[in-house]
Amino acid sequence: RADDGYRLWLKYDLVADAGQRAQYRAAAQHIAFEGKDAVLQTAATELQRGLQGLLGQPVPVLAKAAAGSTKHGILLEIAPPTNVSGSAQTVLESYRIFSRGAQLVVAGGSGAGVIYGVFALLRQVQTGQPLAGLNVSSRPRIQYRLLNHWDNPNGTVERGYAGSSIWKWNELPQRLDPRYTDYARANASIGLNGVAINNVNASARYLTAEYLQKVKALAGVFRPYGIRVYLSVFWAAPKVIGGLKTADPLDPQVKQWWAAKSEEIYQAIPDFGGFLVKANSEGEPGPQDYGRTHADGANMLAAALGTHDGIVMWRAFVYKAGSGDRFKQAYEDFKLLDGQFAPRVLVQVKNGPIDFQAREPFHPLFGAMPKTPLVLEVQLTQEYLGMATHWVYLAPLFKECLDSDTQTKGPGSTVAKVVDGSLDQHRISGIAGVANIGTDRNWTGHPMAQANWYAFGRLAWDYTLTAKAIATEWTKMTLTREPQAVATIVEVMDKSRDIYVRYTTPLGLHHIMGQNIHYGPEPWLADAGRPDWTAVYYHKADSAGLGFDRTAKGSNALALYSPGVQKEWGDAKTTPLNYLLWFHHVGWRQPLPTGRTLWNELVTRYYTGADSVAWMQRRWATVQPKVDAALFADVAARLQIQQREAVWWRDACVLYFQTFSKQPIPKPFVPPT
Ligand code: GCU
Repeated sequence: RADDGYRLWLKYDLVADAGQRAQYRAAAQHIAFEGKDAVLQTAATELQRGLQGLLGQPVPVLAKAAAGSTKHGILLEIAPPTNVSGSAQTVLESYRIFSRGAQLVVAGGSGAGVIYGVFALLRQVQTGQPLAGLNVSSRPRIQYRLLNHWDNPNGTVERGYAGSSIWKWNELPQRLDPRYTDYARANASIGLNGVAINNVNASARYLTAEYLQKVKALAGVFRPYGIRVYLSVFWAAPKVIGGLKTADPLDPQVKQWWAAKSEEIYQAIPDFGGFLVKANSEGEPGPQDYGRTHADGANMLAAALGTHDGIVMWRAFVYKAGSGDRFKQAYEDFKLLDGQFAPRVLVQVKNGPIDFQAREPFHPLFGAMPKTPLVLEVQLTQEYLGMATHWVYLAPLFKECLDSDTQTKGPGSTVAKVVDGSLDQHRISGIAGVANIGTDRNWTGHPMAQANWYAFGRLAWDYTLTAKAIATEWTKMTLTREPQAVATIVEVMDKSRDIYVRYTTPLGLHHIMGQNIHYGPEPWLADAGRPDWTAVYYHKADSAGLGFDRTAKGSNALALYSPGVQKEWGDAKTTPLNYLLWFHHVGWRQPLPTGRTLWNELVTRYYTGADSVAWMQRRWATVQPKVDAALFADVAARLQIQQREAVWWRDACVLYFQTFSKQPIPKPFVPPT
């Protein structure tokens, strides 16, 4: 039957190789467990569903006592490990898979650990690995692993390109769309344990008694999968729905309102995760409206949580028109507050200093706030990366940020170690991905964008996995197990993000996309109401050259980084070419290490980038016999759009920048007359 993409990577189709199937069948004759833990029960049900599909035979779920120990089966048990270090929660979420006599045991630190172990076991079968002799143990490196939905009460999704919101507020709490369960399964399968269900540009409505009943219903669906619900809050809610005259965080009535609201939420949702806050950013209200700081606001909310087990994730995405280089503004607002945040507050920082561009240097706040746990926020929805028409695998982008060395505590002080808390010994840690999910049958619009959801979860669990390894897993589980096709698809995925950068914003160009919708090129944009939304503000093309001088001669944003980073990036000669125009205004005729001048290198990248999309098309064509026909056609059609638009980007940018460089297109790219 045609594969409509709904099942994501949880396909559970019959293992094609009969020999392999026989081995799995022999090892998995039943599933056994004991106890009433809800998540453990979910794990058993999912394992049964998966194995029955993959092995094509009934796999009964038995009580542990009834299963006996001589027949080969899979035993699920909750057994907190004794000798694992790490935060209490990550220990609870850890799992081990090993043999004990005839049994294959999946032992979790809690029900959640078991469910993660079960999905790891299923992955093993789905990717064709043996079960015999399996001996693995794993625990998440980061504690709070969340999707952030930018979904609105009216069903729209801010920067969503895959249909409407999957939350049907008009039907909740009475009707629970089965999709909510499949969504929870997908998240649990990749190790995610939290979802902030509404847009950071939040409506106060979610905090009303009426909506809390709906949120409670969703929380009830997610709970058996080890997933907690979080809410984005509208700062001025005490005024809008509370009838107060102020939302000043130091006002006693405001404090009381939030404490009562939080208590009301916990009455309905005892495992409520906490609050996500966008304040004093892009027109949203916040504590600064009352002369208070972000810390005053965040700490008040943390206090409102009382004795409940919740957290506050306070976003650092702030910038204002007319306040100097936007690159520096979040740092300037937040750096000084380090040490002032209450213990349960985490500051949530985007991967880069501007806004989810196709390539950004790591955000200078990483490493600069050692006293504050920082959540890394990345974007799965491809706001600036071709939405749902361009095929861009994002794991390389996430890895590039995680692997960046802040050098704040000497070499090896990577962003990953800041985020997982190990660099500064934080007790709590978090990572958030802005979801790319909507009501499209295949969830993500572009079928290949499912891999970005998948990869985010896998990296949130273990950021040491390689982008290629994750792509390989996903491809085998989702598209095909045929080795040549897997290799081809993984190669395209692995290169896709670099290709996108080449035909849109090579050499460190950024923010030159179409206004408002953030799609297509508009490097000439000079008037957008405020300078920090224009393209010319960022590329600074003139007759001399191109790029934003952020050295001491320019905005000096480089000074926000540690001395080692400053040294490397402060000199155009040692700055990696990928970041060059982020930090330097470079002469058009300046020779680069590639042997070409800046102009020639720029044009070369735009042209080879666009050509590479044709390469992606040719590679994709070769896998046709090995993947589902409808999916093949869907991706092929999207690649056609991508190819046209890569040429659009190339021509728009090259011709526009040529008006400054006044130099010819280098020879290889001039079509023969
Ligand atoms: C981007 C995006 C907005 C979003 C904002 C944020 O600027 O375009 O739609 O609200 O990021 O992260 O808060």
